Amino acid sequence: MTDTPRKILVTSALPYANGPIHIGHLVEYIQTDIWVRFQKLRGHECRYVCADDAHGTPIMLRAQAEGIAPETLIERVGREHRADFADFLIDFDHYHSTHSPENRALVETVYRRNRDAGHITTRVIKQLYDPVKGMFLPDRFIKGECPRCGAPDQYGDACEACGATYSPTDLRNPVSAISGATPIEKESLHYFFKLSDFHEFLYNWINSKTRFVIKDHDFATEKELLVARAQERVQPEIRNKLNEWFAEGLKEWDISRDPPYFGFRIPDTEEEKYFYVWMDAPVGYMASFRALCEREGLDFDAWWGPQAETELYHFIGKDIIYFHALFWPAMLEGAGFRKPTAIFAHGFLTVDGKKMSKSRGTFIKARTWLDHLPPEPLRYYFAAKLGPGIDDIDLNLEDFVQRVNSDLVGKVVNIASRCAGFIHKRFEDRLADRLPEPGLYDTFVKAGEEIARLYEAREFGHAMREIMALADAANQYIDEQKPWVRVKDPDQAPTVQGICTQGLNLFRVLMAYLKPVLPAMAERVEAFLRCDPLTWINIAEPLLSHTIARFEPLMTRIDPDRVEAVVAASREDLAAETGPAEPATGPLAEEPVAPEIGIDDFSKVDLRIARILEADYVEGADRLLRLKLDLGGETRQVFAGIRSAYAPEDLVGRLTVMVANLRPRKMRFGVSEGMVLAAGPGGKDLFLLSPDTGAEPGMRVK
Ligand code: MSP
Ligand code: ZN
Repeated sequence: MTDTPRKILVTSALPYANGPIHIGHLVEYIQTDIWVRFQKLRGHECRYVCADDAHGTPIMLRAQAEGIAPETLIERVGREHRADFADFLIDFDHYHSTHSPENRALVETVYRRNRDAGHITTRVIKQLYDPVKGMFLPDRFIKGECPRCGAPDQYGDACEACGATYSPTDLRNPVSAISGATPIEKESLHYFFKLSDFHEFLYNWINSKTRFVIKDHDFATEKELLVARAQERVQPEIRNKLNEWFAEGLKEWDISRDPPYFGFRIPDTEEEKYFYVWMDAPVGYMASFRALCEREGLDFDAWWGPQAETELYHFIGKDIIYFHALFWPAMLEGAGFRKPTAIFAHGFLTVDGKKMSKSRGTFIKARTWLDHLPPEPLRYYFAAKLGPGIDDIDLNLEDFVQRVNSDLVGKVVNIASRCAGFIHKRFEDRLADRLPEPGLYDTFVKAGEEIARLYEAREFGHAMREIMALADAANQYIDEQKPWVRVKDPDQAPTVQGICTQGLNLFRVLMAYLKPVLPAMAERVEAFLRCDPLTWINIAEPLLSHTIARFEPLMTRIDPDRVEAVVAASREDLAAETGPAEPATGPLAEEPVAPEIGIDDFSKVDLRIARILEADYVEGADRLLRLKLDLGGETRQVFAGIRSAYAPEDLVGRLTVMVANLRPRKMRFGVSEGMVLAAGPGGKDLFLLSPDTGAEPGMRVK
């Protein structure tokens, strides 16, 4: 083992470049960032890289829908992603793109080495092809009836009703989700990675541990420590799942796609073939690191070569384990690169106990959050909820406000604010020259080793509880010492200065422990205490005979109204995107293709003729008009997303058709009691349905 600090390379999964960062993503990036910052504060050489995942069919189609080149789309989204991450204080050492020269070169190397070693094979396969759009259809772009239970409107890979998995050619009555056309079967040559060549390697890899000894420093006792570590490759829950997959047998993996496709050409092929996005995506970890090497003069091979002694960890969500724990190590093995030290998977985010939902306003974009709230409370809340396992984690919005206010403001900041005033007013900002309770200070410093162990093991929730227990102890000390009583007695002035010095020093230690989670607040504390940047190393020495700055608020209480504003704005995002109706979801929400329905389904819809009595603008919603509709005696209020096509005065007096039995929807502006029917793609091209004159409000439409 070396004398140098640990060298650790850390990645988070690469977010797709076709959509915004949302708070579900943030679970992962915040978790990783906390771990990385922790390693750096312990004095290790830790590098954190990531990139946008820029290739694939959804990105190609999205660019087409926007009428722009895919390069333009990924450039724009990349900029937005970087800004979102920066504002959530996610501190990448480098953020790259998979659509980069580094990635092209590396994926070609990975491919060629595997091919030359015999791990690539080709075969002609039959796939569904959209004859109108002129392209092969990925599974998610085909809809039809489940071959097992007959449920309508299922994707080409799996049935959401009965859980069956199948191939898209098994779907009954398939349609292309892109054009609505009936797909045809067509043959083409595909390239496969022979995953089963790696059966034994993978089995051993997953069921082995990395054993290594690291030289660490015990900052409490100032001693060097040799720590033997046995790092599991994957968490136990994941290992069980992987062993099930082994039992089923490893299948060949199709790594090629036909044009049109946005990605890299497979080299050395006659026909035009592209790497499937998941082939070059994980290589993006290497590419991002390579770009960092260029920037900082690091030795790439020392980190990725087969003999690399550095540590490598991938943080991922549990949905992408197959790619990271099977394909990825096998590809690396086949190409003669090092394998990950371990893969750390996490669960999914729920909000108020449910899946994030656009209509509930809980599908919250990173940017929407930042428009109303600071980033650090969310970082703290996630930290408080995160553990080393793959359980889903819940953001309970009420609990969030309560927890942050009581822990961070009520407990932690409170220690400083109770002491700072006296030091300022009575002692000219000067701390005492000794601690009245050095033993208590020592306890705080020693606790740092256990807290470090918890951070290392990704037991963040447990670590936060330990830190809050210390905060309670610090507050209890101040309560018992009652500086506010003693200060009335001039003889006790030195005692008061001592108590406050003790309190502020305990606070400083706590902020060092919270620094991976609350880096900006820690910086404000460093400015307030006029001390060196806090690390695990330099808190062993208390601040004594030292002049501090004026106390400024370090964190303010969260007003529950702000959280409500985030939820309201998230609902509004939706109204702006799709009008007030329940959104279509999936990759092509713009152009959903409805499945066939029976006459009884149709008769559930109560369509009525309505006359528009009033129409007006809705403040704060630039797509909506508020309509007052006469249904023949009854009036209804409906918010319709038709403002880009109609001015209110165009509409008053007109007849139209409405869905009269749609469940009322509470919107930010009021309740919408139905829906009017319009045709067209949207924007200016939207046409309100108008029955012939003679139709009467309230008439049923059949
Ligand atoms: N592009 C792939 C990853 C390629 S890695 C070589 C991808 N992108 S993603 O944008 O869909 O997701 C990025 C990461 O965010 C994944 O690890 C995913 O599990 C995680 N999350 C996305 N939504 C999430 C939640 N709702 N909750 C927690 N994590 C989630 O997958
Ligand atoms: Zn089914």
